[in-house]
Amino acid sequence: MAYTVPKLKDFSPAALDKAAEKLLAALEKESADIKAESDWKLFRDRWMARKNGVLTQINDLWLKAAPKHAKRDVGQRVNMLKQEVEQKVHATKSWLLAPTVKVEHAGIEVPEHEFEGYARNVKLTLERVDITLPGNRRPLGAEHPVIKTMNEIVSVFRNLGYSVEEGPIIETDYYNFEALNFPPNHPARDTQDTLFVANQESKPLRDRLLLRTHTSPVQIRTMEKIKPPLRIVIPGKVHRNDPPDASHSPMFHQIEGLAVDTNITLGDLKGTLDRAMKALFGSSVKTSFRPSFFPFTEPSAEMLISCFICGGSGRRGSEPCRSCKQTGWIEILGCGMVDPNVFEFVKNNGYDPRKVSGFAFGMGVDRIAILKYGVDDIQLFFQGDIRFLEQFG
Ligand code: PHE
Repeated sequence: MAYTVPKLKDFSPAALDKAAEKLLAALEKESADIKAESDWKLFRDRWMARKNGVLTQINDLWLKAAPKHAKRDVGQRVNMLKQEVEQKVHATKSWLLAPTVKVEHAGIEVPEHEFEGYARNVKLTLERVDITLPGNRRPLGAEHPVIKTMNEIVSVFRNLGYSVEEGPIIETDYYNFEALNFPPNHPARDTQDTLFVANQESKPLRDRLLLRTHTSPVQIRTMEKIKPPLRIVIPGKVHRNDPPDASHSPMFHQIEGLAVDTNITLGDLKGTLDRAMKALFGSSVKTSFRPSFFPFTEPSAEMLISCFICGGSGRRGSEPCRSCKQTGWIEILGCGMVDPNVFEFVKNNGYDPRKVSGFAFGMGVDRIAILKYGVDDIQLFFQGDIRFLEQFG
């Protein structure tokens, strides 16, 4: 309801205060509603027109009607209200004409002097964060089961005084074969299912590139670099031309070991590997060796461990044990005494086969991880499926 000037019956200071308060509140509200210059003109006339404007009305209805004793007080008040009204009408006009500024993100225009306040409010609104919302969960990564197994094996040998060496995955024929006593055209090369880099027929055989089929080339690379005595383990990726299935992958992982010193014997080989297997699979695990062949070791052996799944019995309750194919034993690595022909290739760095001897071994990490974690398909390790991998977190 629009404001109308009331007639006063009571001219006490308290009643006058109240009446003035109502008038000023109406003035404030009407001023705030003004959007355009035409609005303002109506506003000005309503409050200030000689004929019947609000100011004229309070002069007539309040001052002229006041009893004698109150005249002075009412006069002062009316004067004060007059000033307030004139000031307000004037100020409203200058606000209206002030240049406006667009407040970004808010879709409004405001006078310049109000811009800062609006802009700050808009900014605060945009930057508002609800701290009661639940946070973003970032899934924690986990060590890959193959890498985890690899690290465990490496750490067992580190504790036995071995250090870690690495070498290239793309190798030359020389390191992968020749220096490991695989002569050109030797049938043992066929067992390696080698993946060769194409178009290298113009190079001498020994320089041709291939994907290393085992970690053994790093034996030679390290002996070229470090004089004996030597105790190293070599973790890494290797490749063979095997079609992928549940137990084969064209890429897999090996850990190689090499110890060279004066008077290293087959007893050292057996003792070291027996100790390492007990550390890896539990102290009740037994080891067994059977003859084998590798061009770079002589004699060569395959080492077996008693099945740590069925305890060597070949059975799990009424079921046959699948891990050891009911034999009670699991083939775990190849090993042997370093062939003197291998030392011949690094003789100039202190590896005189008449003075030093050594043993070497190599094992497949993926296969050990399969046994340890009871995984039934090697492909699961390389598919990157989080539902599989997160079980190892
Ligand atoms: N390099 C052999 C292989 O990949 C394993 C091995 C390493 C055997 C060292 C003997 C000594 O099959």
